[in-house]
Amino acid sequence: MDSKEKENWLLAGRIGKEARETGIKLAVPGSTLISIAEAIEGKIKDMGAKPSFPPNLSINQIAAHYTPRFQDDITLKKGDVLKIDVGASVDGFLSDTAATVAVGERDTELITAARDALQAAIEIARPGLDVNEIGRVIENKIKSRGFSPIVNLGGHGVGRYDLHEEGFIPNISGSYSRPLKKEGAIAIEPFATTGGGYVVDSSEVQILGFVETRPVRSAMGREILGFIEKEYNSLPFAKRWIIGKFGKVAELELRSLVSAGALTEFNVLKERDNGLVAQFEHTLLFDGETVTVTTA
Ligand code: CO
Repeated sequence: MDSKEKENWLLAGRIGKEARETGIKLAVPGSTLISIAEAIEGKIKDMGAKPSFPPNLSINQIAAHYTPRFQDDITLKKGDVLKIDVGASVDGFLSDTAATVAVGERDTELITAARDALQAAIEIARPGLDVNEIGRVIENKIKSRGFSPIVNLGGHGVGRYDLHEEGFIPNISGSYSRPLKKEGAIAIEPFATTGGGYVVDSSEVQILGFVETRPVRSAMGREILGFIEKEYNSLPFAKRWIIGKFGKVAELELRSLVSAGALTEFNVLKERDNGLVAQFEHTLLFDGETVTVTTA
């Protein structure tokens, strides 16, 4: 890997870490989710990067993919289990990192289980390792504390402008056997739950992604699609960002763009049994035999 490329991966990681820590500091009872999201986005921009995806601020039984709505009014309450999942893009070099906070309280056993699972996975991660080994240590750590890993969420490769590159990294053993990539970035993200360990789509969507240019009848639809392609490339974006720029009418246009196949939706993911969910995530960079946790 050339040195400029490596520098960009590391910088994206550093900015992702700062964004995550910004979110953690603000996660106190009475804070609004929107104020936390905007502070995270501001931090990323101040450090010269762009979000690699909208900050995911998912509470309790919501596992992932919730970013605040336009004019969102959700306020954190003491005891909420808040997942803060964020990342930065430096010229398409990405980071992806998450932490979980028990709002206004000390870490719960569930949170410790997810954090320990990530730590154990990082300790064995190296280029070419069978992903089944990662799944095994994550599953063991989470089950040893009496919780379940979420089986249909997991880590992934990270490529340039490609947040979820192929190469699923399971949170259980026995489902996938495949070597980790030899060079480049991956994200490891264990999820622990008090439920059965399976997430399902809810009907709500706050995050979308560009798929391809399609013929669009409405002039505003064309304008919005052009903006999305230029501004976010293939990276996910928030409905709220588009409504903030184009006004409330953009909501209808986004729906048409989804129907036309120009955009795709990321539904808010909920634990099927309404179990509480905790998650931790780091991005790792493989360069030769060197393994660097870029978001640590
Ligand atoms: Co991820």
